[in-house]
Amino acid sequence: MKTTIDKIKSMKGKEKISMLTAYDCSTARYMDEAGIDIILIGDSMGMVVLGYKNTLSVTTEDIIRHTGAVARGANNALIVADLPAGAYDDNEAAALNAEALIKSGADTVKLENAPEIAKFLVDNKFEVMGHVGLTPQTVTDFKVQGKEEEAANTIIKMAKDLEEAGCFCVVLEGIPRELGKKISEMLSVPTIGIGAGPDCDGQVLVVNDILGLYDAFTPKFVKKYAHLADDMKKVFRDYIKDVKEGKFPEDKHSFH
Ligand code: KIV
Repeated sequence: MKTTIDKIKSMKGKEKISMLTAYDCSTARYMDEAGIDIILIGDSMGMVVLGYKNTLSVTTEDIIRHTGAVARGANNALIVADLPAGAYDDNEAAALNAEALIKSGADTVKLENAPEIAKFLVDNKFEVMGHVGLTPQTVTDFKVQGKEEEAANTIIKMAKDLEEAGCFCVVLEGIPRELGKKISEMLSVPTIGIGAGPDCDGQVLVVNDILGLYDAFTPKFVKKYAHLADDMKKVFRDYIKDVKEGKFPEDKHSFH
């Protein structure tokens, strides 16, 4: 059954919410069949799919293409598409780009901070997921955020502002677990943590990280459930060897 926004909201305090990123149809299909609640087409694709150093070069067109692929693979999960950097500098751009993401198959969009833009989108009938803390589109210092009281209060205020703007859910990234707990208790909408401790209402990770398919950098909060890069390299080596030695294709792979 298709996961709805109301279902996600109702899970707060009752059942933890599972969320992962995906960027292609097959991965989304396997994830969906496994029962994931939310799939995010994140601008993390900049690093793990497109080979950029950060998320800043990702365009709305990139997210549109990958959202379409994910939406064609996932029947049940709630599909959330990231508004990339530069796509919500003003209300008009935000609405145009959000519309394009919804048309490509997303159920809702996600943005970082920007509560006024979030409110404009909600007032115009878009569902919006917020994102605070270590927000990669604006933070230049890739360290845990909100360790000092003043910085923690700024993050708390931003999370509350996003809730007040009408966001149905807020991602908390790269903050101390105590702060993750505090914000999760303060908000009436669910929080989804990534490096924000176990007391958030749900958790999200980047799929390439949990599969062991991205080794340029592994943050402390990542749990690797597999090491598929090693498996892939072995498969590629075996294939190359078979071709070089004339062991592939065999007669059973050939037409007569
Ligand atoms: O782009 C992304 O993958 C994200 C998650 C890390 C929350 O924003």
